[in-house]
Amino acid sequence: MTTPRYCFPHKHLLGIEPLSPQDITALLDQAEAFEEVCERPDIKIVPALRKRMVVNLFFENSTRTRNSFEIAEKRLSAEIINFDADTSSLSKGETLIDTALNLEAMHPDLIVMRHSAPGAHALLARHMKASIINAGDGAHEHPTQALLDAYTLRQRFGRLEGLKIAIVGDIRHSRVVRSNLWLLTKMGAKVTLVGPPTLLPTELKDTWPMVDISYDLDAVIPDMDAIMMLRAQFERGTGQFIPGQGEYIRYYQINADRIKRAKKDVAIMHPGPMNRGFEITSEVADGPNNVILEQVTNGVPVRMAVLYLLSNPHGEQVP
Ligand code: NCD
Repeated sequence: MTTPRYCFPHKHLLGIEPLSPQDITALLDQAEAFEEVCERPDIKIVPALRKRMVVNLFFENSTRTRNSFEIAEKRLSAEIINFDADTSSLSKGETLIDTALNLEAMHPDLIVMRHSAPGAHALLARHMKASIINAGDGAHEHPTQALLDAYTLRQRFGRLEGLKIAIVGDIRHSRVVRSNLWLLTKMGAKVTLVGPPTLLPTELKDTWPMVDISYDLDAVIPDMDAIMMLRAQFERGTGQFIPGQGEYIRYYQINADRIKRAKKDVAIMHPGPMNRGFEITSEVADGPNNVILEQVTNGVPVRMAVLYLLSNPHGEQVP
């Protein structure tokens, strides 16, 4: 008897929550196949999305994610439309659904969207034929960031299961943490959330009871395989939740002194953009344990894998 071929069962990537461990592994394996394409010295392009139209719809600022998606789309030979929210009719009062239906009339195959409203993607998915990819929705999810984080960890440690990972900082406002919580717990990693009580909502335990919560970074550090620092999101009001920057730095900044107490091969991660000198010192951000630019590099094959498997669910491993 032959085993039935795996078929990626999702039309959209709205978050990590709906994915099974098998789906996550399929995406990471596919990304590995694409990494070879990205590392070619000459032509880094495959025809996998030829004649498919991808619309990039960014309603919130983005540097890494937007560029990374665009590079991924180019490497797959897609046709790309960049929709600029500032100069669009949205600024004239058009609703998101009207904008979306007008885009739909141009028959795009995939829409990559970043939006400040949690759930905006699910709304679009109900109204459109195209596949919707969530590139960040408010403080809800950022699934491709969690996938590239997992890819980076798997590359470094050869596995996700059993890894001990601390996620540190502004947990309250972070969509990166929510996608990582879904992904890492589904894949059997052991997660500890660390931050000041005001930035660490204990309700997260209702959804993820297996996760540990700590307010003491120094106590947590020695046991960790990876430490994922989060950006303090001052534009979302983080300043109101901490007594002062000095106090935050004293207890929650990752710096050279704290690294001395960590495992020798601990991986220091950050989704970017970093507040250098606040949640992380430059010494650590540029030091030997950081994998921060590897995360950025890995974003491209991971996003290629997402675009590809949503459009080709049978996912033959592209040469
Ligand atoms: C994150 C984001 O925008 O959610 N950055 C990113 O996508 N690389 C994290 C952040 O803004 O702090």
